[in-house]
Amino acid sequence: MKLSVIGAGYVGLTTAACLAQIGHDVFCSESDTEKLAKLQHGVMPLFEPHLEDVIHAVRKAGRLCFGSTEEAIAWGDAIFICVGTPPLPNGDADLSAIEGVARSIAKNASGYRLVIEKSTVPVQTGGQLQKHLSVHNKNGLSYDVASNPEFLREGSSVEDFLHPDRIVIGVDSPRAEGLLRQIYEPIINQRFTCPIHSDCPKRKEPVFLATNTNSAEIIKHASNSFLAMKISFINMVANLCEVVGADVTEVAKGMGLDPRIGPAFLNPGIGFGGFCFPKDVQAFIRIAEKSGCDFSLLREVEKINQTRVEHFIEKIRKELWVVRGKKIAVWGLAFKPNTDDVRFAPSIALIKALLAEGALIRAYDPEAIEKARPILPDVTYCADAYQAAEGADAVLLLTEWEEFRKIDWSRLATVVERPLIIDGRNVLSREDVSSNGFHYIGIGGVSATPQVVQSLIAA
Ligand SMILES: NC(=O)c1ccc[n+]([C@@H]2O[C@H](COP(=O)([O-])OP(=O)(O)OC[C@H]3O[C@@H](n4cnc5c(N)ncnc54)[C@H](O)[C@@H]3O)[C@@H](O)[C@H]2O)c1
Repeated sequence: MKLSVIGAGYVGLTTAACLAQIGHDVFCSESDTEKLAKLQHGVMPLFEPHLEDVIHAVRKAGRLCFGSTEEAIAWGDAIFICVGTPPLPNGDADLSAIEGVARSIAKNASGYRLVIEKSTVPVQTGGQLQKHLSVHNKNGLSYDVASNPEFLREGSSVEDFLHPDRIVIGVDSPRAEGLLRQIYEPIINQRFTCPIHSDCPKRKEPVFLATNTNSAEIIKHASNSFLAMKISFINMVANLCEVVGADVTEVAKGMGLDPRIGPAFLNPGIGFGGFCFPKDVQAFIRIAEKSGCDFSLLREVEKINQTRVEHFIEKIRKELWVVRGKKIAVWGLAFKPNTDDVRFAPSIALIKALLAEGALIRAYDPEAIEKARPILPDVTYCADAYQAAEGADAVLLLTEWEEFRKIDWSRLATVVERPLIIDGRNVLSREDVSSNGFHYIGIGGVSATPQVVQSLIAA
């Protein structure tokens, strides 16, 4: 089929590339002219595992090209809207980019179009889209609006798009449902050439769930809010563990063995970030508020998350005594591993706070330095983890990149000023770190000593 994708960010670029990979002819548009020029010249504007290879292959095969939004609207029978929906100061999702695309479709398209919202939007956005398409309709456009929330995760977006657990569509007409089934048919039946696994294992077919548009929109916000809630929950359990002498890694393991709970998203740390959870929780709270539902549970989720950076800095202060003038190595800037995305990353707030206290920050991240540099110009950026740690009074692990688990601790011991590791993600082996003379501090009581427990019992 001839498909269009509007917006070449993490979601749009993955969507365009993967739809082309499964056999469609795709036109992808991007309004940022610098980004568009890069894409047209075969240069990646972002880092995402496997994406560059897929784009290269499908462009070579003539199934993907990049251009303006007007050209994209003229091209596809179905149009995936993948533009950003950032938070407004009051927490609402800013839908101006979506509205702009709707106007453009109404003005520039003639004939039938299936307009698909893939961006994360508040419930009832589909209805607004319908209304605006008809208000601005100039060329006899006939259309359907559908919701198709995206569940991919940055860092594994190609894998997630091609091998999903579920495909959710929100449709209000049989025609829209039929077209979406046709678009996703190769993925539903797992019949396509997999660009990731040369010998792609036979995978379980994803559940294809068709709902009405409002339900599909809610599914996305409710899913992200639920996952955020799990993270804030375990972070509070971690705080409790630190006080009472328990070890949150043991507690999380014990909890996760219950299949009703499951082990995922029970990793305590410095809080959730990125372009989804923080803004989606905020937007969901606002949607509930405006609908007269008191979702104060989610306000607590957000509040707990906002305390994580300060909680971590308190650990640093406790160890360093005076932060001013101290050299602090930061390992990891991206909000999660395998991405270069630093939007709403806890590392940014943390580094800003440490700089404000007079610390000297030396940072390393395998992919995110170029995106962090304009936001944090006062940081010294380093070529690797060892260089960042040179002369450091403390090393902070903020993003759980695989390479940090493979550090040569004896080598590291020769470059630091003080052998102190504060692990904001609880991913390092305490034994490896300690056996090389480092003092290890994790999250949630993982460095709790038996004395703490004894003193509590005595009290
Ligand atoms: N990033 C994720 O992991 C993820 C996962 C699921 C859903 N989402 C949702 O998907 C949406 C996009 O997220 P993202 O991370 O890809 O954002 P992004 O900022 O990386 O990409 C959006 C792109 O759209 C472009 N754009 C804006 N208006 C345009 C227009 N009129 N024409 C063409 N291009 C235009 C922007 O320049 C930008 O490059 C958001 O609603 C987000 O919440 C994101």
